[in-house]
Amino acid sequence: MSHGKLYVVAMTLNSGIDLVSIPGPTILPDRVREALARPMPNIYDGPLLETSDRVLDRLPSIARTSGHGFVVIGNGHAAWQMAINNTMEPGDKVLVLESGIFAAIWGNNVAAAGVDVEVLPGTMTGPVDADALQTRLANDTVGSIVAVLVAQTDTASSVHNDIPALRAAMTAAGHDALLMVDGIASIGTERFEMDEWGVDLAIGASQKGLMCPPGVSFVWAGERAIDRYRSLSVDRPRNAYVDWAQRLEPEAVYQSYSGTPPVTHLRALDVALDIIDEEGGLPAVWERHRVLAGAVHAAIDAWHTPDGLSFNITSPAHRSNAVTTVRTGTVDSLALARVCEREYGVTLGIGIGAIRDRSFRIGHMGHLNPPMVLGTLGAIEAALVHLDAPLAGSGAAAAARYIGEQTTG
Ligand SMILES: Cc1ncc(COP(=O)(O)O)c(C=O)c1O
Repeated sequence: MSHGKLYVVAMTLNSGIDLVSIPGPTILPDRVREALARPMPNIYDGPLLETSDRVLDRLPSIARTSGHGFVVIGNGHAAWQMAINNTMEPGDKVLVLESGIFAAIWGNNVAAAGVDVEVLPGTMTGPVDADALQTRLANDTVGSIVAVLVAQTDTASSVHNDIPALRAAMTAAGHDALLMVDGIASIGTERFEMDEWGVDLAIGASQKGLMCPPGVSFVWAGERAIDRYRSLSVDRPRNAYVDWAQRLEPEAVYQSYSGTPPVTHLRALDVALDIIDEEGGLPAVWERHRVLAGAVHAAIDAWHTPDGLSFNITSPAHRSNAVTTVRTGTVDSLALARVCEREYGVTLGIGIGAIRDRSFRIGHMGHLNPPMVLGTLGAIEAALVHLDAPLAGSGAAAAARYIGEQTTG
């Protein structure tokens, strides 16, 4: 009996649950979606105030700091604005450490505020060079640089920068600039220790490792960042909405958010933080991300051929546990993404910038387990076979093997 095609019909394989494997917004846990659907509460009294207190109390622990955590109603760009408004003023100079694109975009926002921005040039394929940072700061003998800005994980290149190494370079240069880290793609997915690593200000957002919809972001400020805020000139141009003045000592919940609290996001975050606690806290979450990232990396190693797929970040030590940018060589990555989405129901992140049609990104952050990651990798492999792409071996099999080897339960 033949097992070939039985019917000549227009056929699709794409029925079932869609899998969005982009590097944020990430998949929402059902409990988070339920929290988002609840009716509006009284914002002046009752359970919402308890939720707000709980979230604000738990906020510093997400960045592992005893500093202050601020909630910004807006995406990551809004948190950048809060950092800029409260720690810099026209006439200041900051050093932006390029590695990928996001620190550079933050730098553009800083420049728009009238602050002098210098970029320490980097690449799309590797981390910030700590030695180059040390040399640059050692040459700043008059201490004109007030802050150093860097992304821990750049979501475009998928590089993971070594923040303790960068802090050590600043210390070795004897420079006292503030260290400000964009942890939007890393906080909640990979180890981040604000206090232990000597980070003065950190930025996060709701829509990646923290498993909530986009629309709320965070700024964590340590003592030196708050001191800097207090030392800025009183008549500088400032944005009252993101200013720390009333947010540092709010009279009521209303002032903590410069207006109506983001009710749905607070409830969602409260639940997401419960889910993180139930998993065993952040260290357990980081470990899960390490294993799932290892599975993705094993797949790319297994697929790799000189004219086919390869890592964008060449050094394994600097690959992110949250997102992986894959170069596709001779393979049309837009066609690959199209087959995955239309035929299999898996949405991949497209490449960014000059490598747009020769790369794609796999988001492996947030509410994820092995079948979700293996499903994405299996769909990519099927699409590669369908497109007759060069393949050295089975990435899906290598990923499953890696997960099996790492399973401890
Ligand atoms: C590392 C990083 N920083 C900043 C941003 C900007 O955040 P948003 O798009 O929420 O404004 C992103 C967005 O993906 C990001 O990945």
